[in-house]
Amino acid sequence: MKTVVIAGGAGFIGSNFVRLVLAEREDWRVINIDALTYAGNLANLTDVADHPNYRFERVDIAEAEQVDALFDALDEQPAYIINFAAESHVDRSIDGPEAFVRANVTGTFRLLERARAYCDGTRYLQVSTDEVYGSLGDEGAFTETTPIDPSSPYSASKASADLLVGAYHRTFGLDTVITRCSNNYGPYQFPEKLIPLMVIHALQGKKLPVYGTGMNVRDWIHVEDHCRGILATVEKGEAGEVYNFGGEAERANLAIVELIADRVAGSRAAITFVKDRPGHDWRYAMDNTKARAELDWAPRWTFEDGMASTIDWYLEHRTWWQQVQSQEHLSFFDRWYGDRSEASDGSEGNA
Ligand code: NAD
Ligand code: TYD
Repeated sequence: MKTVVIAGGAGFIGSNFVRLVLAEREDWRVINIDALTYAGNLANLTDVADHPNYRFERVDIAEAEQVDALFDALDEQPAYIINFAAESHVDRSIDGPEAFVRANVTGTFRLLERARAYCDGTRYLQVSTDEVYGSLGDEGAFTETTPIDPSSPYSASKASADLLVGAYHRTFGLDTVITRCSNNYGPYQFPEKLIPLMVIHALQGKKLPVYGTGMNVRDWIHVEDHCRGILATVEKGEAGEVYNFGGEAERANLAIVELIADRVAGSRAAITFVKDRPGHDWRYAMDNTKARAELDWAPRWTFEDGMASTIDWYLEHRTWWQQVQSQEHLSFFDRWYGDRSEASDGSEGNA
């Protein structure tokens, strides 16, 4: 058996990953450590909570004592430490950056220190993002050698974590790999991100707030394809390397909101252009050449099938999203969207 510590496994991508590996890796003993912030939810994992190869421990990765207590109590050296844990929402990082430095930078540092203490035999995988590369113009795509140039406190904190991971490999010889992925969608995504927010608002008959002109472009990937990429990287990736993952599905935000409005509400009347996000990255696109060639990975979902299945999932799981909309979430929502005056022609958008 391989002991595998997964940090942040109660969030959107982490819970999808835990479910994938429990189904496909019978020799993995999974220890999910998560602080259960507003975005962490054990209801994402009720179907595997009693799995014999699964255990949950509430741990804040930024707290040295909690991290030390967890690792000191382990019977076996972990084969892998996989870090999903992070504050992950760009808008919240603009509203309050400090939590991002704490969870994403200090938290990564604490896990790296524990990985380093094992000397050998533990591989550390950092789940990172395309946002560390900054913003693209209308042409081109990010490769693993594109310079780091983050725009938001979120992406700057993720870039800082990546730099620490690289330094631990070069200085201490730690066996590290980094995955950088584009925007994910799929089941169990917290409804503050574009796709679940729009689906739920359309169901509730609320406004659909599009930032700026709605012409900003993201490269969308189904969460299962991302999780398969992480699994391939931790098992087959080369130490010290970075691997990019994207869904090969670039779409303008407005096109996505229109698709959801048409399918869920049967009307586009609720689409509302609001003040743009400060520092809003124009476009992200990932070049998957390295992952396709070295990891034998390719996205399996088309965007159209993935969106249809994701919208159906939210329609069928109303209780899940009604329960995750906590008081904390609603107060952030009121603060963030409350002062974003409408720009009905999209004129406040950036270039
Ligand atoms: P999420 O916000 O849904 O989940 C984050 C999880 O981390 C939650 O369970 C939360 O409780 C936990 N967490 C936060 N701070 C913690 C701390 N201090 N200690 C322990 N646990 C803590 O995020 P997600 O969308 O699932 O993203 C997971 C990872 O993937 C993040 O590192 C993110 O940067 C990265 N990523 C996300 C996307 C995306 O589109 N969502 C794309 C590329 C990369
Ligand atoms: P988001 O899901 O927050 O992901 P990220 O900022 O990490 O790419 O947003 C995706 C895109 O959708 C981004 O360009 C901002 C835009 N957006 C809106 O137009 N309206 C919204 O209410 C939200 C949450 C996002």
